[in-house]
Amino acid sequence: NNLPPSTAHFSHVDATAPQPSAAAAKLSHLKAVVLGEALASEDDDVVVPSHEFSRQALVPSMQKYLEMYKASIEDPAKFWSGIASSEFYWKQKWGDQVYSENLDVKKGNIKIEWFKGGITNVCYNCLDKNIDAGLGDKIAIYWESNEPGFDATLTYSQLLHRVCQLANYLKSIGVRKGDAVVVYLPMLMELPITMLACARIGAVHSVVFAGFSAESLAQRIVDCKPKVVITCNAVKRGPKTINLKDIVDAALTESANNGISVDVCLTYENQSALKRENTKWQKGRDVWWEDVVPKYPTSCDVEWVDAEDPLFLLYTSGSTGKPKGVLHTTGGYMVYAATTFKYAFDYKDSDVYWCTADCGWITGHSYVTYGPMLNGATVVVFEGAPNYPDPGRCWDIVDKFKVTIFYTAPTLVRSLMRDGNEYVTRYSRKSLRVLGSVGEPINPSAWRWLFNVVGGSRCPISDTWWQTETGGFMITPLPGAWPQKPGSATFPFFGIQPVIVDEKGVELDGECSGYLCVKHSWPGAFRTLYGDHERYETTYFKPFSGYYFTGDGCRRDKDGYHWLTGRVDDVINVSGHRIGTAEVESALVSHPHCAEAAVVGIEHEVKGQSIYAFVTPVEGISYSDELRKSLILTVRQQIGAFAAPDKIHWAPGLPKTRSGKIMRRILRKIASRQLDELGDTSTLADPGVVDQLIQLADI
Ligand code: WTA
Repeated sequence: NNLPPSTAHFSHVDATAPQPSAAAAKLSHLKAVVLGEALASEDDDVVVPSHEFSRQALVPSMQKYLEMYKASIEDPAKFWSGIASSEFYWKQKWGDQVYSENLDVKKGNIKIEWFKGGITNVCYNCLDKNIDAGLGDKIAIYWESNEPGFDATLTYSQLLHRVCQLANYLKSIGVRKGDAVVVYLPMLMELPITMLACARIGAVHSVVFAGFSAESLAQRIVDCKPKVVITCNAVKRGPKTINLKDIVDAALTESANNGISVDVCLTYENQSALKRENTKWQKGRDVWWEDVVPKYPTSCDVEWVDAEDPLFLLYTSGSTGKPKGVLHTTGGYMVYAATTFKYAFDYKDSDVYWCTADCGWITGHSYVTYGPMLNGATVVVFEGAPNYPDPGRCWDIVDKFKVTIFYTAPTLVRSLMRDGNEYVTRYSRKSLRVLGSVGEPINPSAWRWLFNVVGGSRCPISDTWWQTETGGFMITPLPGAWPQKPGSATFPFFGIQPVIVDEKGVELDGECSGYLCVKHSWPGAFRTLYGDHERYETTYFKPFSGYYFTGDGCRRDKDGYHWLTGRVDDVINVSGHRIGTAEVESALVSHPHCAEAAVVGIEHEVKGQSIYAFVTPVEGISYSDELRKSLILTVRQQIGAFAAPDKIHWAPGLPKTRSGKIMRRILRKIASRQLDELGDTSTLADPGVVDQLIQLADI
C-alpha cells in the first residue's frame, strides 16, 4: 500500500531509503492531525495528508517521491530530458549533452547549461501548444480589477491573439531577438501579455515592479538599454491613484541624462484610473497602446531560440552595491518552472489558480505567467490591493472564480489574520483545494490560521522556498506525499541537493543548522548576473567553493525537515520584498544632511521584518522630525515606498571596530531593544557610542 496512513503512524516512510535519508526517519513519535479530520492545534507536530487527498495526488506517497527523487539525483540528464521531451515542444532537440556545469571556481569559470542546442520558444509552449491540444476555449486569464465588479477574461486563443498583435508591433518598431524590453506595468492583463510577446520574438523582458521609484527604474533602464519601455498611464491600488507615466517620464529623463535614450514609450491607457487627456505626453516618443497594437495581425511567427538564449532579466537586491540583473535562459527555466508548478500544487486541468504576487517579482514570472500557462492552467490576475475595499476581498475573489489553488505570502496571511476571522468565514471558500506560501518563513501560528480558518483544515499548504536566482521551487512540500510540519518547507524538489554547511564550508549531517547551499545545478538556475559574471561568481560561488550559496540560514531537524531561518547576509525581507541594507544606506547618505547611515532589519509582526535606520546628521544639523521625514522621503524617491525605513534612530556616532567596520550585530540588538544581549563591546573604537545610542532610542 503506497498511500500514507490516515493515522499518526508513518509506516509508509522507509527508513532505509537513500538521500534524503533524513526524510525517511521514523515519524511515529510525532503528534499528528489528518487533513480534513480536525483543526491543527499547537500540540500537533504534523498534518498528515488524508487517503482521499493522496489517492488523487500526482505524487501519492513518500515512497513514490523517494523513487523519483533518487532517479533525479542519480541521473539528472535522464530525469530532466525525459520530462523536457515528453511535455514540451522542441523545434529541434538538444545535442548529446543534456547539461554541463561547473560550480567550482577553482576549476574555472562558473558555467551552467541545460538543453544547449535545443531549439524552442516559451511563448509557443505556453499558448500555441496548448491551443493545438484543444485548450483554445479554456480560460487562460480571469482578470479582476481593483474595483469589485469590474473584470475580464481571456481564453487561450484570445490571449494568443493579443500576444501576437503586440509581438508584431514590437517587431515593427525594430525590436529583435536579444533586445531588452523594460516593462513597468501593474497587474493588468497587459503585463503577462507583454512578457509572452517578448518571449515570442526572442526579446528579453526586464519587468520592473511598478512600486519602484523613477530613480530605480532609470537605473535598470541604464543597465540594460532597452529600445522600448512599456507602461500604462496610471493605476488604482485600493483608494489611491498612482500616475505611473509620470514616474516613467522622470526615469526616462534621468536615463537620457546618463546617455541612454529610449526611442519609444508604449503606454496603455488604463481608463479606470486616468483618461488620456490628463496624461502628460511627449510627442515622438510616447505611443498609446490602444492606438497601435490592435491594428496588427493576430498571428505572428515564432522566433525559435536556443535553450540557452536569454528569456528575461530581473533585478534583485544583494548585500552590497547596486541591484543585480539576474539572467534566466529559455529551455531550463521553462522546464523547471512548469514542472515545479505542476508537482508542488498537485495541478489538475480543472484547477483555477490564483497567485497574489505581482509579476514585478520572480514569483509573478514563474508562478503567475510561465509555470501555470505552460501547464495550460486558468490563472487569476488581480490588479488591486488584497484588503480593498475590505479584508474579505481575497475570499470574495476565491468564491467568484471558484479558485482551487491559492498561493500567497505570509505577510498577507498575518495581516488578514489580524483583521479577524469574520472576513474569511463570511465566504464559502469551498472550492479551495491547495494553499501555498512564499517569500519568507511562515511562522507556525500564521500557518495554522491559513490551514484552519482559510482552508477549513481541508487544504495542504505548500510552503515553497526558493529565490529569484533559482527560477523555481527548491524546497517544497508535495501535497499528498508526506506529512507537513507547520513552518517547515519540508524536502527538496526533484533534482535539488540542498546541503547545510558550517562557516568553513563543511557539510553537516543529520540534525544540524548552518548556511544553506546547493550542490550541482538544476535546469531553472540563473546563468549569470547581466553584464557582471564576476559578481555572479563572487557572490554565489566563492563563499563555499563547489556550491551555490543561497544567502539563507537553514536548520534540518531530526526527521530531515528543512526550516529556513532567514537571510544570513545584509539582505532584509520586508513583506516578502528583498531589500539590501546597502541600497537603503546609500539612499540615506545621498541626503545632504546625512553624514552616515547604518540599516538593519528588525522583527515585525505583520511585515516579517521592518527597516530600522541609524543616522548621523552632518556637523551642525540637529535632529528633527523634518529631517526624519525628509530622509524617509529620499528613500521613497530613490528606491520606492516599500523600502522606506519605519524608524530613524539618531546616532551621534556608530559602533565601529578599530578598523572602521560597523558592528551591525550591536545595532541589531539596540534596534530590537535586546540591551542585555549586546555582547562584548570592548573591541569598539569608542565603546561610549553604545550608551549614547541607547539614550537616543526613543527620541
Ligand atoms: C526568502 C522569492 C522561507 C529567502 C521567491 C530567500 C523564504 C528570499 C521562502 C528570496 C520560504 C522565500 N520560506 N524563506 N518559503 N521563500 N524566502 O528572490 O530568504 O524575492 O532567500 O524570491 O526570500 O527572495 P526572492
